[in-house]
Amino acid sequence: MENILHTVLEVGLPAPVKILQITDVHLTQTDPRDPVEQQEHMDHRREVFRKEANYPPCTPNEYFEEAFALAEAEGAFPVVTGDVIDVHCIGNIEEFHRISDGKDFLFTPGSHEFAKFCRSPKEGDDYHGRYRVIRPSLEASFPHLNFTFDSRVIGGVNIITVDNSRDWFPEEVLIKLKAEAEKGLPMVLFMHDPLADHGLLRIREPHPVVRMPDEVYKISDQVLEFIDTCPLIKATFSGHWHGETVRSTPAGVPVYVTPGLFKGICRLIEIR
Ligand SMILES: [Fe+2]
Repeated sequence: MENILHTVLEVGLPAPVKILQITDVHLTQTDPRDPVEQQEHMDHRREVFRKEANYPPCTPNEYFEEAFALAEAEGAFPVVTGDVIDVHCIGNIEEFHRISDGKDFLFTPGSHEFAKFCRSPKEGDDYHGRYRVIRPSLEASFPHLNFTFDSRVIGGVNIITVDNSRDWFPEEVLIKLKAEAEKGLPMVLFMHDPLADHGLLRIREPHPVVRMPDEVYKISDQVLEFIDTCPLIKATFSGHWHGETVRSTPAGVPVYVTPGLFKGICRLIEIR
């Protein structure tokens, strides 16, 4: 690993709990069964990431394997916050399986999990139609991972993953977050989009092709408000931006943003 970011979170636990956050791996593996256009697209994207991350020393695939080994060595529970694959293709999905199958971790997706190509949507794109086909197919391929919401109580802290991969929170997230709060334990949230993201906060108007009905954004706003005002929620950890930064919600909940693992960077969190 090139750099392990260390974060300490004080929530009043009797003994420390370690979490390793892994995000934005951006695997660019192809398979001969993938369409030629996708294989060429992955060749191009591999070079984009190679320049951005200055790799070698390691490929994203190697960093992904190393991250799980690091978590084991540190006694840290891995939480993977999306964009594991750069596009939805056979090569990437099989590589995700090869590296992660048999490992115990929580996962929440990023937007790239559901993209066939990485490009801005164009007028007339069937953006939502593609998503409605790709998402269930990917979920069926990883039945042991709960894409929309998951939680694990470890040493008295509730580790929770919530899906906001499409720049909004699904209604299930709101219902389940409220149910988790009933446990009365400190909660630490993991998601793909940072709570400061312009798309998620709708500071930037969505592209007309990706825009959802207003009702969807109203529910998502309720999730944002709940996170901001629930005293049990101690911090949020996210990726998506590929760089390191720390922000906070209006009420002061920390918003940690972790760089992409394709750069050889992950975050070791010690919760005390
Ligand atoms: Fe990413």
